[in-house]
Amino acid sequence: MKEKSIKKTQEKIKRGGRVGYFFTQVVIILLLIFIVFHCVMMVLTLIDEIYVSRFSWIYEHNSLYRLITSEEFSKIFRFGDKNLLDEMQPKYRALIGIFASLLTWLVLLFFTRMAGQFFKHLAEGGRPFNVRFAKKMRYSAFSFILLVLYNPLLGIISFALVIFFSYIMEYGGYIQEQADETNRIQEEIIFSFAEITENKSGQTGQHIKRVSEYSRILAEQMGLDPERCDQIRIASTMHDVGKLMIPSEILDKPGKLTDEEYAVIKTHTTYGGQLLENVEGDELKLSRTIALQHHERYDGRGYPAQLDAENISLEGRIVSVADVYDALTSRRSYKDAWSEEDAYREILKGKGTQFDPQVVDAFEAAHDKILEVRKKFAD
Ligand SMILES: [Fe+2]
Ligand SMILES: [Fe+2]
Repeated sequence: MKEKSIKKTQEKIKRGGRVGYFFTQVVIILLLIFIVFHCVMMVLTLIDEIYVSRFSWIYEHNSLYRLITSEEFSKIFRFGDKNLLDEMQPKYRALIGIFASLLTWLVLLFFTRMAGQFFKHLAEGGRPFNVRFAKKMRYSAFSFILLVLYNPLLGIISFALVIFFSYIMEYGGYIQEQADETNRIQEEIIFSFAEITENKSGQTGQHIKRVSEYSRILAEQMGLDPERCDQIRIASTMHDVGKLMIPSEILDKPGKLTDEEYAVIKTHTTYGGQLLENVEGDELKLSRTIALQHHERYDGRGYPAQLDAENISLEGRIVSVADVYDALTSRRSYKDAWSEEDAYREILKGKGTQFDPQVVDAFEAAHDKILEVRKKFAD
C-alpha cells in the first residue's frame, strides 16, 4: 500500500517536473529576447548620443531607469553636498539604468535555468530532495539580494525564503541519503548471498554480475523506468540461489548429467522460491519471482511450472535471455564456451519459442552494450 502511494506520488512529481521544465524553458526564451533587446539598446545608446532622445521610450518603460533617476535613489550617491548622479548626463544615467536592468535579467535567467535543471531532474525521475542542489540554491540566494534594489522588503523576504527552503531540502536530502545507504547495505547482502551461490554452484567467476547487468540492459532497452531496471539488476543476482540446496557432487560433476541428476538440478528453481518464500520488500520479492521463473520458456515447455508467454513475469522472461546467453558464452565443467556470434545467433533462434520475442528484439538492439559488459566482467 505504502509502495503504491510512493509510486503515485513519484508519478505526480515527474509530471510536475515536466510541466515546470516546459514553463521554465518558455521563460528562458522570453528572458533571452529581453536580454538581446537590452543589449541592442545599450549598443545604440553608446553608438550615437544623438539618437538617445529618439529611444527615450525605452527609459520610460524601464522601471530600473525610473528608479535610478528617482529622488530616493539619488540619495545613495550623495557624498556631502555633492551628488554623483545629479552631475551625470542623462544618457549616462540611462546607461547605468540599462546596465542594472541587464544584470537583473541575467540574474533572473540564472535562476530560471537553475529551476529548469531542477524540474528536468524531477521529470527524469530524480528525487525532490537533494543535498547538492540545496547547497547550490543557498549560495545563489545571495544574488537575490539584488532584489533589494527594487524593493528592500521583497529582497529580504525572498532571500530568507530561499535560504529556509534550501535547509528543508538539505534535511530531506540527508534522510534520503540515509535510506539509500540502507538500500545499499541490503544490496550488498543480496550480492554476498549471490556470491555464495555462485561459488557453490561452481559457475565461472562473474556469471552473476554479467547476468544482472545484461538483465538491466535488456530492461532499459525495453523502456522500463530506471528504478525498475535497477530492481531487476539487483534481484536477478539471486536467480540461482536455490542451487545452495543442490548437492555439490551434482553441481560440480564434470561431463554429462544423468536424467535423474538433471531432474535434481532443475529443482533449484523451486528451492529458490522456497528460500525466498516469506521475504519482504520489492527487490527480494522480485528475486523470488525470478528464481522461480528464469527457466520457464515462452512456449510453455520450460520448468518448473511450464508457464507460457505473459504468464511468466516480464522479469522472468528478461533474466531467462540474460542467463542463457551468459551460460552459452561461458565455459562450464561439461562444455566449452561458445563464440559471441554463435551465442548471439542461438538467442535470435529462440525468439518466440524459448524466449519472449520482445526481449529478443531488445537483445538484438542492445547487443553492443551486452558485449561491453561481457568484456568488462570477463572471467
Ligand atoms: Fe538457473
Ligand atoms: Fe544462472
